[in-house]
Amino acid sequence: MLAVTLLAGLVGSTLATPFFSPWNAEELFNRAVTSSGCSTTGTASCTNTSAVSDLCCFQAPGGQLLQVQFWDTDPSTGPSNSWTIHGLWPDHCDGTFDESCDSSRAYTGISSLLTAQGASDTLDFMQTYWKNDPNDGTDETFWEHEWATHGTCMSTLDVKCLPSGSPKGAEAVAFYNTVVRLFKTLPTYTWLEDAGITPSSSTTHTLASMIAALKKGYGFTPALDCTSGAVDQISYYYHLRGSVIDGTFEPIDAPKAGSCPSSGIKYLTKTGSPVSTTSTKTTSTKTTTTSTKTTTTKTTTTSTSTGTPTSIPSKATIQAIQDGDAIGGLLSLGTWSTQTLATYTLTGTGSSFTLSSSKGSCGVSGGAFACGSGSSSTFSAVASGGLTLLAYEGSTSFSSSDAPSGSTVETVNTGSDGDQVYTLSIVST
Ligand SMILES: *[C@@H]1O[C@H](CO)[C@@H](O)[C@H](O)[C@H]1NC(C)=O
Repeated sequence: MLAVTLLAGLVGSTLATPFFSPWNAEELFNRAVTSSGCSTTGTASCTNTSAVSDLCCFQAPGGQLLQVQFWDTDPSTGPSNSWTIHGLWPDHCDGTFDESCDSSRAYTGISSLLTAQGASDTLDFMQTYWKNDPNDGTDETFWEHEWATHGTCMSTLDVKCLPSGSPKGAEAVAFYNTVVRLFKTLPTYTWLEDAGITPSSSTTHTLASMIAALKKGYGFTPALDCTSGAVDQISYYYHLRGSVIDGTFEPIDAPKAGSCPSSGIKYLTKTGSPVSTTSTKTTSTKTTTTSTKTTTTKTTTTSTSTGTPTSIPSKATIQAIQDGDAIGGLLSLGTWSTQTLATYTLTGTGSSFTLSSSKGSCGVSGGAFACGSGSSSTFSAVASGGLTLLAYEGSTSFSSSDAPSGSTVETVNTGSDGDQVYTLSIVST
């Protein structure tokens, strides 16, 4: 550790004038600053044991960096299957922070600035993933605000740290490039989905289950914020080696928890179109399970199952599975409820069987499932993601107009036309 610190000191001093540039001023004109000239092997911000003098290559006092993301559902912003960017904030090591550190650099016209300095890829990405609440203003004003409020407080983005001849605003372009670069490594939606946690209007989650899912992806504990019990923001914390321009962001545990309660957390559904995600880690069987479940939600209208018929138990309860979570199941009349589930008798084989409860045989009539009403239908069982799902006419989708709660029960309809779409899992008793 001592060796590392000494080396860092050495590197720091040899880089006291770090911006000797191989390019001449003309080549640099209107060219994005992509290299700081700083070492990325020195001391990480907030971990130094003595004062560091070159704050172009050592982020201070804002050495605890937060990549903050939104989950905006009302109004909904951004793709339905992605969180969006809030910003990148330079907290001090003790959690206090500065804001709006240089009004002379509160740039406007961020889109033009990015385009002019060769960062139109970054701009394209921002237009999808860095969204303002439309009630608060345009995306452009939000981008301006994030730079002016937080970016101008980053020591490593001071104008004096840029290569000489850099175009005006180059350090802000570097800021936006870095925020996008970091955000792309933080697929919150996918990390939660990999653990079976997907948006829903009715399911709730414990903080521990959400943090565990995110920690699996990030390696460290992020902080989750809630409004009215619904998660709407996440902060991933870092220390930084080198400059915000091109340094190494080192994940750390959030120094404090966010505002979410320990349980009963809602993760509400967004409207808007899903986008194909850029995440690369999609290999686990958990993911397969999740995507199978996803096809039964309301985004899919005809989810005809292609699974293979499976063996069935003779006695079972039937659980409703929505967005990867079990939410109650069927009572003896065939209604959906969060009360104690009924035991069903299954007669036949996995590819064709009948169902009955203490109320009598069960069937589908006028699209509604019911038991003891005089109708009897045949069903099949489909193995999916480790579950045995009930299928009617080949489809595993069932739906209701509302989610049940307390003593309120809901009629189960076949297909996915209702607001609440789910599958029914046959669980041997
Ligand atoms: C780390 O470096 C910064 C910047 O020089 C300084 O303000 C801070 O006091 C240093 N921390 C320690 C523990 O010396």
